[in-house]
Amino acid sequence: MSAPVLHADNLARHYRVSRGLFASELTLKAVDGVSFTLDAGKTLAVVGESGCGKSTLARLVTMIEPPTSGSLAIDGIDVATAGGAARRRLRSDVQIVFQNPYGSLNPRQKIGAILEEPLAINRPGMGAAERREAALEMMRYVGLRPEHYDRYPHMFSGGQRQRIAIARALMLRPRILVLDEPVSALDLSVQAQVLNILVDLQAEFQLAYLFISHSLSVVRHMADEVMVMYLGRVVEHATRDALFGEPRHPYTRALLSATPVADPDRARNRMKLEGELPSPINPPAGCAFHPRCPIVFEPCPRQRPALEQKGDVRVACFAVDRAGRVTRGASAAA
Ligand SMILES: Nc1ncnc2c1ncn2[C@@H]1O[C@H](COP(=O)(O)OP(=O)(O)OP(=O)(O)O)[C@@H](O)[C@H]1O
Ligand SMILES: [Mg+2]
Repeated sequence: MSAPVLHADNLARHYRVSRGLFASELTLKAVDGVSFTLDAGKTLAVVGESGCGKSTLARLVTMIEPPTSGSLAIDGIDVATAGGAARRRLRSDVQIVFQNPYGSLNPRQKIGAILEEPLAINRPGMGAAERREAALEMMRYVGLRPEHYDRYPHMFSGGQRQRIAIARALMLRPRILVLDEPVSALDLSVQAQVLNILVDLQAEFQLAYLFISHSLSVVRHMADEVMVMYLGRVVEHATRDALFGEPRHPYTRALLSATPVADPDRARNRMKLEGELPSPINPPAGCAFHPRCPIVFEPCPRQRPALEQKGDVRVACFAVDRAGRVTRGASAAA
């Protein structure tokens, strides 16, 4: 078995924030102890409500920001200790595609120049003709035509712009692509096209995807595994089939309940998400989800459940037994 291409170990990112001029500084734990591995050719999706730390995690994985604590290894090499050329190499191994294809492309550069820029910076030995060839090749992979090479971003639709952003991210032939809501800004019909291109590119280049999305139907289509985050921490991590087939954490069950299902058996397992999302500056004691949890019981407000392997899933909930069975709430009765 091959080693994972990415290994995140207990990653945390804390921010010092102050509320108002005279308030003392407080700590906001945007990401707080997140661990996972990612294999070549596989997709790990990250879901959770706005503010749960998805984009912060994306910035840590892409080395845009350093973690407050914890470590990140690519191909077994710790990125914090790698220096010089090794560090540049690791940086080019992880690329990111953002949600907004309008903001992320320089309006004054032609598509050819946008795609060749990473090569001009990182592959100084490469000649102009070779760069052009590489850009045209990548344009073909994402379904752009050769005549697009000399056009400016404003001449393209949203979906085409996102293809350009994807092509640019792939110019250095990274091993890992972080996709932060890559299709959320696009029309539904265009979303499917871009997702299909991502599926093809993954197979072609054996890419590992860290795929952030609000849309559970998109995640279901794309993911091999899914990680559910709540207030900076992972509450459930499971294969796609386990997560959608038998969600264990009450928060996961609530998220899935918010999307329509035809199956009446599933409908019985529905769980409504109540109350406001608490602030990550002052998260609730014990299980951070307990004030909103419909099956809260005695240990929950006092003790934080660890994220543990229980049966076939990793889950942080006192209501799930060691075999991964839900012992309380709707699915326990089902
Ligand atoms: N540079 C920063 N300084 C202070 N707080 C920050 C900073 N960046 C993010 N945060 C806070 O960290 C938390 C996590 O933010 P993040 O952007 O990672 O969430 P998200 O899951 O990506 O949300 P969304 O779904 O809205 O994109 C939020 O409470 C946010 O306000
Ligand atoms: Mg975000």
